[in-house]
Amino acid sequence: MSELKVTVLVENTVGISVGLLSEWGLSMLLDFGDERILFDTGEQGSLLANAQAMGIDLKQINRVVLSHGHYDHTGGLLKFLQLHGSVPIYAHAELFVDHYGCGVHGQGNKYLGVPFRQELLESVGAEFHWCRQPLELRPGLWLSGEVPRRTAFERVDERLIQIRQGHTVQDSVPDDFSLFFVSQQGLIILLGCAHAGLVNIVEYAKQVTGEQRVRALIGGTHLGPASKEQQEKTVEYLKSLNLSCLAPNHCTGPAMSSRLASEFPHQFAWANAGHTLEF
Ligand SMILES: [Fe+2]
Ligand SMILES: [Fe+2]
Repeated sequence: MSELKVTVLVENTVGISVGLLSEWGLSMLLDFGDERILFDTGEQGSLLANAQAMGIDLKQINRVVLSHGHYDHTGGLLKFLQLHGSVPIYAHAELFVDHYGCGVHGQGNKYLGVPFRQELLESVGAEFHWCRQPLELRPGLWLSGEVPRRTAFERVDERLIQIRQGHTVQDSVPDDFSLFFVSQQGLIILLGCAHAGLVNIVEYAKQVTGEQRVRALIGGTHLGPASKEQQEKTVEYLKSLNLSCLAPNHCTGPAMSSRLASEFPHQFAWANAGHTLEF
């Protein structure tokens, strides 16, 4: 029996041929054997059809964790709740802050936040547990809490903004959470969009858990839209980690994913919709 099985329910692309749907977003199922945790819900609710196509019963999910309040990680939540009913949901206290994007797809200010009101989600079973500090969800599994931004080269995406009292300010996405699992062979780190910076997140995972060995990185790295400097310094950092699994997806983008696949030929794993990683 494995310690953890990660199944990608929703991703920008589809990885296996059983009739899955793709959408811009991310949703992953973490199966610990005695508990199933849903990490993010994708954008439009394709997690329902994809789970069914893969023979996964979403009603068996015990808890939900939301990585941050962007629409492409929270947009499937309403349909999931309508299927599942009451469920504890762990997220940052400012999940519902007004996230915007400026100049995304050449458009003006575009709302990128949670596409539902908190009251609507609660009326169909959402039981929110708000946090800002690291929280041990089960033995060895940590919700990161707010990740300190320490590196100089990891800058937040300039297109991300908030509008406060009519003024546009940079959105550092303080609600960006990751999951840290201390497995027998080191840390397995699950990322939503890594808006806090991949290196910041990995270093904080070591600090929070006390485990220095990093075994696997899975999820959105946001390296696709990052500066050349950030991309290069992050690749150098990843080379120092002695990873056994590197499974970037979502906002890593195809160009950066291809680069990482060639830089880490023995560690790289695809993590598109339908793919499963077992540890
Ligand atoms: Fe995202
Ligand atoms: Fe995001």
